[in-house]
Amino acid sequence: MRLLIAVTGASGSVYAQRLLDQLDPAQHEVHVIQSQYAPQVVATELPGGLRLRDGVQLHNHRSMNLPFASGSNPPDAMVVIPCSMGTLGRIAHGVSSDTLLRCADVILKERRQLILVPRETPLSLVHVKNFELLLQAGALILPANPSFYGRPATVEAVADTLVARVLDHLKIPHQLAARWCEEPE
Ligand SMILES: Cc1cc2nc3c(=O)[nH]c(=O)nc-3n(C[C@H](O)[C@H](O)[C@H](O)COP(=O)(O)O)c2cc1C
Repeated sequence: MRLLIAVTGASGSVYAQRLLDQLDPAQHEVHVIQSQYAPQVVATELPGGLRLRDGVQLHNHRSMNLPFASGSNPPDAMVVIPCSMGTLGRIAHGVSSDTLLRCADVILKERRQLILVPRETPLSLVHVKNFELLLQAGALILPANPSFYGRPATVEAVADTLVARVLDHLKIPHQLAARWCEEPE
């Protein structure tokens, strides 16, 4: 698969890190892009910053010199994780003012898989209306709501309960989090 992982300035950089840790560049073409504000929040939440595996391709949000900025060369899937309400609103309204936003716009128009992992609480009507628009446009909204029935013991394990659902939707096999009513292998 050709995957674009987009990181924004919402809290929850650990979700992006745990997802990137699971994506093997030997098996998938993995591209990463950060929004303008992502580095500030990443620096606050991840000591040492975002770790990228060898082979992952990092793109600048100000350069359209990447394949996915054009409908002629879209990725198979794009995951915005975590997704700020600002980025979510801009995607919902077709604002393509930087590379991350343009790629999301391309994904929607080309009917590829767009997974948004929004994190905000509480939600305003503006947020909910934007959710509605994006669902109608074909995006998957997978809110950053971890689960606890598997009794995760660490912050990373809590994050993995969410990342597991992202991987499920990408149809990438994993052993990240216990499944309900299934014995671990
Ligand atoms: C420490 C920190 C945490 C933040 N957490 C969130 C959040 O969880 N959700 C959100 O929508 N915005 C959050 N913000 C605000 C966004 O970073 C801000 O709206 C920014 O403009 C988003 O830009 P972007 O969408 O280009 O990343 C946070 C900001 C800071 C500094």
